[in-house]
Amino acid sequence: MNNEENNRGGELAEILGSELIEGEDMFGGELMNVLRDSDMGKAIAKAVTPELLLRSTKKMMWSMVRYRELQMMYDCALKTIKTKFEVLDSEFEARYKRNPIKTISTRLKSTESIVDKLERYKKQVTLENMINYVNDFAGIRVVCSYIDDIYRIADSLLKQDDVTLITKKDYIKDPKGNGYRSLHLIVSIPVFFAARREEIKIEVQIRTIAMDFWASLEHQLKYKREAENQKQINEELSACAEIIAATDERMLALRRRIEEAEDMPTEEDILFERLRKSIL
Ligand code: GTP
Ligand code: MG
Repeated sequence: MNNEENNRGGELAEILGSELIEGEDMFGGELMNVLRDSDMGKAIAKAVTPELLLRSTKKMMWSMVRYRELQMMYDCALKTIKTKFEVLDSEFEARYKRNPIKTISTRLKSTESIVDKLERYKKQVTLENMINYVNDFAGIRVVCSYIDDIYRIADSLLKQDDVTLITKKDYIKDPKGNGYRSLHLIVSIPVFFAARREEIKIEVQIRTIAMDFWASLEHQLKYKREAENQKQINEELSACAEIIAATDERMLALRRRIEEAEDMPTEEDILFERLRKSIL
């Protein structure tokens, strides 16, 4: 190694090792050893200037900080939209004495799944592409009691003037080939931070308890299917989805019948009405 290369290696070592324990660098000391001893190290030392290295290290760290910030922001968007659904549920309960929503769950997509999705879309793995193309970075699943609750809840959400609908897929009216049913919305909502307002996209899945039961079991089974009897299993899953959908319809019809019956005046109502008339 000539003097210039030695110097460059030294400078690199300084940057990589600065503020770290002696003998260590950001790669646990291994990079320092490679730079010092091997031909590859010398080649790297020639090609990679300390300025370039410093710049790319800073860029990488900035991306990590920005990614954390985005996670925080999408998480806040989930809190905001969850509250919107809880408010709708409370209002509905006060008005009709029953809760249309059974459960609400939220999740942020894992880093691994984000990378997989961007690669599937043939997009470079960058934060900008994640914001633009991964619509389900933040996801909320709302499980309702009956099919009509799904549409009532979705309409009430979409009527709110700070909610913007981006896409809607109605897998209830048009179930997927395997029998999957759910209403999917991609919406954007504003989230207010200390110094700014950000529009954030969220994937909303609304389904009944029965649809959720099928989807979660199907999701588990997806990874356990054997190639040889896959066709049979798919047919069976699809048949189960049909039975479940028919049950959902029957339960809704049943609820409506009961509600209609409730609308008929009770004995108490009739008595009260007679008393009212006799007083007037
Ligand atoms: P993804 O790339 O999977 O996000 O699909 P997409 O962008 O075309 O969106 P789509 O609205 O079709 O599906 C989004 C999400 O719905 C998935 O990530 C699943 O959570 C759920 N989903 C869609 N299809 C199925 C299915 O067949 N079975 C189950 N269990 N879940 C499904
Ligand atoms: Mg998804």
